[in-house]
Amino acid sequence: MTFAAVIRDNRQHRKLIFADHHIIPDVAILDPLLTMSTPASVTASTGMDAMSHSIEALHSQQSEPIADGLALGAIRLIAEYLPKAVENGNDIVARGQMLIAANMAGVSFGNAQVGVVHALAHSVGGRFGVTHGVANSILLPHCMRYNLDAVADKYRLVAQAMGVNIHGLSEIDAAYKGLKAVSAFTKRLNMPQRLREVGVEEASLDQVAEDALSDASIVYNAKSIFDSEDTLKILKEAY
Ligand SMILES: [Fe+2]
Repeated sequence: MTFAAVIRDNRQHRKLIFADHHIIPDVAILDPLLTMSTPASVTASTGMDAMSHSIEALHSQQSEPIADGLALGAIRLIAEYLPKAVENGNDIVARGQMLIAANMAGVSFGNAQVGVVHALAHSVGGRFGVTHGVANSILLPHCMRYNLDAVADKYRLVAQAMGVNIHGLSEIDAAYKGLKAVSAFTKRLNMPQRLREVGVEEASLDQVAEDALSDASIVYNAKSIFDSEDTLKILKEAY
């Protein structure tokens, strides 16, 4: 129900983004019965995509208060219901709350856009066919570390939305707790932790880092990225 569609070009090994307001449907039907048979691994990876949409909307240069509110609401729901939906696919309440969360995250990033997590995930997916949500999940904590000092105020809110006690902490320490909570969450969901685990070749990291610079998502990232030195640094940390 967002304004964006992504298509993989198998000849160029790139993911191409198409964005237009005509793509947004007039109506979205969020029926949990339709997602009940989704396997646990797909439930986890698509849920982490929604989590990435929320955090990317928050750390976007185009973030704004309404998108922030939707993103934080989505993070609260995902933190509570994604583990339940993964552990028990028949939990219709968890399935329904995840549909709502994914929708809120979608509206949020429709306003605010996404950032370096998606730019890198598209590049990794284009070259190596890594599932979008898996690539996002691996890259998200590392990209948060990269952005941390620029958007500590936002990551502090992420920590709160994930139920972390940040009482008495400085903004940067609270933000770091947010990063750690996201990282721990991916482990709880049994998501792969490193790019090397999902078929990415180390020799291609330079190319992936270069590809990400021309991905439209990167221009909205909290910190402006103009050089593949920065994207390569993140990829190496996630490898
Ligand atoms: Fe995504």
